[in-house]
Amino acid sequence: MRRLMIAGNWKMNKTVAEGVDLVRKLSYATNNITSLDILVCPTFTALKSVSEAIKGTNIKLGAQNMFWEESGAYTGEISPLMIKDVGCEYVIIGHSERREYFGETEETVNKKLKSALSYSLKPILCIGEKLAERESGATERVLETQIVGALDGFSAVEMEQIIIAYEPIWAIGTGKTATPEIADSTQKFIRDKIASIFNSQLANKIRILYGGSVKPENAKDLLSCENIDGALVGGASLDADKFAKIIEAGL
Ligand code: 13P
Repeated sequence: MRRLMIAGNWKMNKTVAEGVDLVRKLSYATNNITSLDILVCPTFTALKSVSEAIKGTNIKLGAQNMFWEESGAYTGEISPLMIKDVGCEYVIIGHSERREYFGETEETVNKKLKSALSYSLKPILCIGEKLAERESGATERVLETQIVGALDGFSAVEMEQIIIAYEPIWAIGTGKTATPEIADSTQKFIRDKIASIFNSQLANKIRILYGGSVKPENAKDLLSCENIDGALVGGASLDADKFAKIIEAGL
């Protein structure tokens, strides 16, 4: 049985004070929940304060991105050592917004994954197709390219540490959620791909989250699908009540 994870990707939202206020409300609303993993991924500037605010709670901390080097002349970048230093256990890698606006490629995603693992950070690898790709029947080819590219050179032991988030780009921030049937069958395809690259025992252990307009109203139907092991939530994770309702839908 795979343990569910409900993760909030705050994207470029929340000042430090707003972020601390959000996790305080969230921990109050969810403090007796231990049967699933609750994760928040604030902006870099809020990580340290949020890390302090969630001490002693069941909320875990992740970053939204990182560079692959530990230190050096890389103006504007943040290293795996630095996010670990402020208490991150997880890191989102290869979000579609990073790929689209900041030029991330399969190669940079692969380097970041490798680096994260070498610092014992648990990466959440994001993959997903664009609307035109879904409509032209290219979804499986696109996902396969992303999976094979991202996981190039990984052993089964390394793969076991990685969480995958399937985020169809047409469903992100659009209010258009993939139906539970589409999400589940696509996530089954991803799991089968992991089985063919590694082995089926490992594929059965890997957590695959769904992301794309997850809301309190649709969370239960999505989270009850066999191949959906949690949610990566954007907009609705910025509101403590809404995010708590999504978490409760996973109980
Ligand atoms: P929304 O929930 O706002 O659609 O964002 C999803 C997402 O991109 C999470 O990483």
